[in-house]
Amino acid sequence: MKKITIAIDGFSSCGKSTMAKALAQRLQYSYIDTGAMYRAVTLYAIRHGMISAGLPLLDKIEGCVEQLDISFRYNEVLHQSEVYLNGENVENEIRGMEVSSLVSKVAAIKKVRATMVVLQRKLGKNKAVVMDGRDIGTSVFPNAELKLFMTADPEVRARRRMDEYSSKGQFYPIEEVKESLRQRDHDDMTRAESPLVKADDAIVLDNSELSREQQLEFVLKLIADLHFADKSELRGQK
Ligand code: DC
Repeated sequence: MKKITIAIDGFSSCGKSTMAKALAQRLQYSYIDTGAMYRAVTLYAIRHGMISAGLPLLDKIEGCVEQLDISFRYNEVLHQSEVYLNGENVENEIRGMEVSSLVSKVAAIKKVRATMVVLQRKLGKNKAVVMDGRDIGTSVFPNAELKLFMTADPEVRARRRMDEYSSKGQFYPIEEVKESLRQRDHDDMTRAESPLVKADDAIVLDNSELSREQQLEFVLKLIADLHFADKSELRGQK
Protein backbone atom coordinates (compact mmCIF):
# COMPACT_ATOMS: atom_id res chain seq x y z
CA MET A 1 0.00 0.00 0.00
CA LYS A 2 1.18 3.51 -0.80
CA LYS A 3 2.57 5.29 2.27
CA ILE A 4 0.64 8.39 3.21
CA THR A 5 0.76 11.27 5.70
CA ILE A 6 -2.05 11.37 8.25
CA ALA A 7 -2.68 14.71 9.99
CA ILE A 8 -4.83 14.72 13.12
CA ASP A 9 -5.86 18.07 14.58
CA GLY A 10 -8.48 19.13 17.09
CA PHE A 11 -9.20 20.41 20.57
CA SER A 12 -7.38 19.34 23.73
CA SER A 13 -8.25 15.95 25.19
CA CYS A 14 -10.30 14.77 22.24
CA GLY A 15 -8.45 11.50 21.94
CA LYS A 16 -6.15 12.63 19.12
CA SER A 17 -3.12 10.87 20.50
CA THR A 18 -5.03 7.69 21.31
CA MET A 19 -6.25 7.58 17.74
CA ALA A 20 -2.85 8.50 16.31
CA LYS A 21 -1.07 5.79 18.32
CA ALA A 22 -3.58 3.13 17.35
CA LEU A 23 -3.35 4.08 13.68
CA ALA A 24 0.44 4.18 13.71
CA GLN A 25 0.56 0.76 15.31
CA ARG A 26 -1.94 -0.75 12.88
CA LEU A 27 -0.29 0.73 9.80
CA GLN A 28 3.30 0.34 11.09
CA TYR A 29 3.77 4.09 10.71
CA SER A 30 5.68 6.37 13.01
CA TYR A 31 3.76 8.54 15.42
CA ILE A 32 4.75 12.13 16.16
CA ASP A 33 3.05 13.89 19.07
CA THR A 34 3.69 17.55 18.24
CA GLY A 35 2.02 18.72 21.46
CA ALA A 36 4.82 16.92 23.33
CA MET A 37 7.34 19.11 21.49
CA TYR A 38 5.65 22.33 22.64
CA ARG A 39 5.37 20.85 26.12
CA ALA A 40 9.11 20.09 26.14
CA VAL A 41 9.90 23.71 25.24
CA THR A 42 7.56 24.82 28.06
CA LEU A 43 9.25 22.52 30.56
CA TYR A 44 12.61 23.97 29.59
CA ALA A 45 11.24 27.50 30.06
CA ILE A 46 9.88 26.64 33.53
CA ARG A 47 13.11 25.00 34.63
CA HIS A 48 15.25 27.90 33.46
CA GLY A 49 13.26 30.78 34.95
CA MET A 50 11.74 31.89 31.65
CA ILE A 51 8.24 32.28 33.06
CA SER A 52 7.31 35.37 35.02
CA ALA A 53 3.92 36.06 36.62
CA GLY A 54 2.44 33.18 34.66
CA LEU A 55 3.67 34.46 31.30
CA PRO A 56 6.55 33.28 29.12
CA LEU A 57 9.49 35.66 28.76
CA LEU A 58 9.60 36.04 24.98
CA ASP A 59 13.19 37.21 24.52
CA LYS A 60 14.60 34.44 26.68
CA ILE A 61 12.62 31.68 25.02
CA GLU A 62 13.24 33.01 21.53
CA GLY A 63 16.93 33.19 22.34
CA CYS A 64 17.26 29.50 23.15
CA VAL A 65 14.55 27.56 21.31
CA GLU A 66 16.65 26.80 18.24
CA GLN A 67 19.35 25.26 20.41
CA LEU A 68 17.02 22.81 22.12
CA ASP A 69 17.41 19.18 21.16
CA ILE A 70 13.91 17.70 21.01
CA SER A 71 13.59 14.16 19.75
CA PHE A 72 11.51 11.01 20.05
CA ARG A 73 12.65 7.51 20.97
CA TYR A 74 10.57 4.38 21.00
CA ASN A 75 10.28 2.69 24.40
CA GLU A 76 10.33 -1.03 23.64
CA VAL A 77 9.04 -1.94 27.12
CA LEU A 78 6.06 0.42 27.21
CA HIS A 79 5.53 0.25 23.45
CA GLN A 80 5.33 3.98 23.11
CA SER A 81 7.23 6.80 21.56
CA GLU A 82 8.65 9.16 24.21
CA VAL A 83 9.91 12.69 23.99
CA TYR A 84 13.46 13.66 24.95
CA LEU A 85 14.67 17.15 25.82
CA ASN A 86 18.44 17.59 25.44
CA GLY A 87 18.88 13.84 25.83
CA GLU A 88 16.64 13.47 28.90
CA ASN A 89 13.40 11.51 28.83
CA VAL A 90 10.75 14.05 29.88
CA GLU A 91 7.68 12.11 28.78
CA ASN A 92 6.12 12.08 32.26
CA GLU A 93 7.16 15.50 33.40
CA ILE A 94 5.60 17.30 30.46
CA ARG A 95 2.13 15.89 31.28
CA GLY A 96 1.64 17.64 34.65
CA MET A 97 -0.71 20.53 35.33
CA GLU A 98 2.03 23.18 35.46
CA VAL A 99 3.22 22.52 31.92
CA SER A 100 -0.39 22.02 30.73
CA SER A 101 -1.42 25.42 32.03
CA LEU A 102 1.46 27.27 30.37
CA VAL A 103 2.02 25.39 27.13
CA SER A 104 -0.53 27.20 24.97
CA LYS A 105 1.16 30.52 25.82
CA VAL A 106 4.56 29.15 24.84
CA ALA A 107 3.12 27.52 21.71
CA ALA A 108 1.81 30.92 20.60
CA ILE A 109 5.34 32.34 20.25
CA LYS A 110 6.15 32.78 16.57
CA LYS A 111 9.75 31.62 16.75
CA VAL A 112 8.83 28.59 18.85
CA ARG A 113 6.28 27.55 16.22
CA ALA A 114 8.62 28.18 13.31
CA THR A 115 11.34 26.08 14.96
CA MET A 116 8.99 23.20 15.80
CA VAL A 117 7.44 23.19 12.32
CA VAL A 118 10.87 22.80 10.70
CA LEU A 119 11.53 19.82 12.97
CA GLN A 120 8.08 18.33 12.35
CA ARG A 121 8.51 18.53 8.58
CA LYS A 122 11.88 16.81 8.90
CA LEU A 123 10.38 14.05 11.04
CA GLY A 124 7.57 13.47 8.55
CA LYS A 125 9.46 13.89 5.30
CA ASN A 126 9.38 10.20 4.37
CA LYS A 127 5.62 9.89 4.87
CA ALA A 128 4.29 6.77 6.63
CA VAL A 129 3.62 9.06 9.57
CA VAL A 130 0.71 9.93 11.82
CA MET A 131 1.17 13.38 13.32
CA ASP A 132 -1.20 14.97 15.78
CA GLY A 133 -1.47 18.59 16.92
CA ARG A 134 -3.37 21.76 16.12
CA ASP A 135 -1.95 22.92 12.78
CA ILE A 136 -0.77 19.76 11.08
CA GLY A 137 -3.36 19.73 8.30
CA THR A 138 -3.38 23.51 7.89
CA SER A 139 0.28 24.42 8.21
CA VAL A 140 2.77 21.59 8.76
CA PHE A 141 1.52 19.19 6.08
CA PRO A 142 -1.19 20.99 4.07
CA ASN A 143 -0.86 18.27 1.41
CA ALA A 144 -1.43 15.36 3.80
CA GLU A 145 -3.48 12.67 2.08
CA LEU A 146 -5.74 12.23 5.11
CA LYS A 147 -6.73 14.98 7.52
CA LEU A 148 -8.90 14.43 10.58
CA PHE A 149 -10.34 17.07 12.84
CA MET A 150 -11.30 15.55 16.18
CA THR A 151 -13.77 16.98 18.63
CA ALA A 152 -15.85 15.82 21.62
CA ASP A 153 -18.22 17.12 24.25
CA PRO A 154 -16.35 19.33 26.84
CA GLU A 155 -17.62 17.25 29.77
CA VAL A 156 -16.38 14.03 28.16
CA ARG A 157 -13.04 15.65 27.44
CA ALA A 158 -12.60 16.88 31.03
CA ARG A 159 -13.34 13.39 32.36
CA ARG A 160 -10.83 11.86 29.97
CA ARG A 161 -8.15 14.32 31.03
CA MET A 162 -8.90 13.61 34.72
CA ASP A 163 -8.51 9.88 34.06
CA GLU A 164 -5.20 10.57 32.36
CA TYR A 165 -3.98 12.59 35.35
CA SER A 166 -5.20 10.06 37.92
CA SER A 167 -3.51 7.18 36.06
CA LYS A 168 -0.28 9.08 36.78
CA GLY A 169 -1.19 9.62 40.44
CA GLN A 170 -2.22 13.25 39.94
CA PHE A 171 -5.61 14.37 41.22
CA TYR A 172 -7.37 17.66 40.43
CA PRO A 173 -10.98 18.85 40.86
CA ILE A 174 -13.03 18.54 37.65
CA GLU A 175 -13.75 22.29 37.58
CA GLU A 176 -10.03 23.04 37.51
CA VAL A 177 -9.46 20.57 34.68
CA LYS A 178 -12.40 22.00 32.71
CA GLU A 179 -11.16 25.54 33.13
CA SER A 180 -7.66 24.58 32.04
CA LEU A 181 -9.07 22.93 28.89
CA ARG A 182 -11.34 25.87 28.15
CA GLN A 183 -8.47 28.32 28.52
CA ARG A 184 -6.19 26.20 26.33
CA ASP A 185 -8.78 25.89 23.54
CA HIS A 186 -9.35 29.63 23.69
CA ASP A 187 -5.61 30.36 23.49
CA ASP A 188 -5.13 27.83 20.66
CA MET A 189 -8.01 29.22 18.59
CA THR A 190 -7.29 32.89 19.03
CA ARG A 191 -3.51 33.11 18.66
CA ALA A 192 -2.09 35.00 15.70
CA GLU A 193 0.28 32.26 14.54
CA SER A 194 -1.42 29.27 12.86
CA PRO A 195 -4.42 29.13 15.21
CA LEU A 196 -6.43 25.97 15.66
CA VAL A 197 -8.91 25.79 12.77
CA LYS A 198 -10.28 22.91 10.79
CA ALA A 199 -8.62 22.54 7.40
CA ASP A 200 -11.22 22.82 4.62
CA ASP A 201 -10.53 19.27 3.50
CA ALA A 202 -10.36 17.70 6.99
CA ILE A 203 -12.92 15.12 8.02
CA VAL A 204 -14.61 15.87 11.34
CA LEU A 205 -14.69 13.07 13.87
CA ASP A 206 -16.83 13.74 16.95
CA ASN A 207 -16.02 10.87 19.27
CA SER A 208 -18.13 11.83 22.31
CA GLU A 209 -20.10 8.64 21.97
CA LEU A 210 -17.75 6.41 20.05
CA SER A 211 -15.56 3.67 21.46
CA ARG A 212 -11.89 3.52 20.48
CA GLU A 213 -12.62 0.53 18.27
CA GLN A 214 -15.44 2.35 16.47
CA GLN A 215 -13.21 5.35 15.83
CA LEU A 216 -10.37 3.23 14.55
CA GLU A 217 -12.71 1.31 12.28
CA PHE A 218 -14.07 4.59 10.89
CA VAL A 219 -10.61 5.91 10.07
CA LEU A 220 -9.32 2.62 8.65
CA LYS A 221 -12.30 2.65 6.30
CA LEU A 222 -11.36 6.19 5.19
CA ILE A 223 -7.83 4.99 4.47
CA ALA A 224 -9.07 1.94 2.56
CA ASP A 225 -11.31 4.24 0.49
CA LEU A 226 -8.33 6.49 -0.24
CA HIS A 227 -6.31 3.54 -1.53
CA PHE A 228 -9.24 2.30 -3.55
CA ALA A 229 -9.72 5.74 -5.14
CA ASP A 230 -6.01 5.87 -5.84
CA LYS A 231 -6.06 2.50 -7.60
CA SER A 232 -9.14 3.39 -9.63
CA GLU A 233 -7.38 6.54 -10.74
CA LEU A 234 -4.36 4.50 -11.84
CA ARG A 235 -6.60 2.03 -13.71
CA GLY A 236 -8.28 4.98 -15.44
CA GLN A 237 -4.90 6.20 -16.67
CA LYS A 238 -4.06 2.92 -18.42
O1 DC B 1 -1.90 18.10 22.31
P1 DC B 1 -1.38 18.71 23.61
O2 DC B 1 -2.44 18.99 24.62
O3 DC B 1 -0.25 17.94 24.20
O4 DC B 1 -0.78 20.12 23.17
C1 DC B 1 -0.17 20.97 24.08
C2 DC B 1 -0.30 22.42 23.63
O5 DC B 1 0.50 22.66 22.50
C3 DC B 1 -1.72 22.88 23.28
O6 DC B 1 -2.08 24.00 24.06
C4 DC B 1 -1.66 23.33 21.87
C5 DC B 1 -0.22 23.37 21.51
N1 DC B 1 0.03 22.77 20.22
C6 DC B 1 0.09 23.60 19.15
O7 DC B 1 -0.10 24.79 19.28
N2 DC B 1 0.36 23.09 17.92
C7 DC B 1 0.55 21.78 17.75
N3 DC B 1 0.83 21.30 16.53
C8 DC B 1 0.47 20.91 18.86
C9 DC B 1 0.18 21.44 20.08
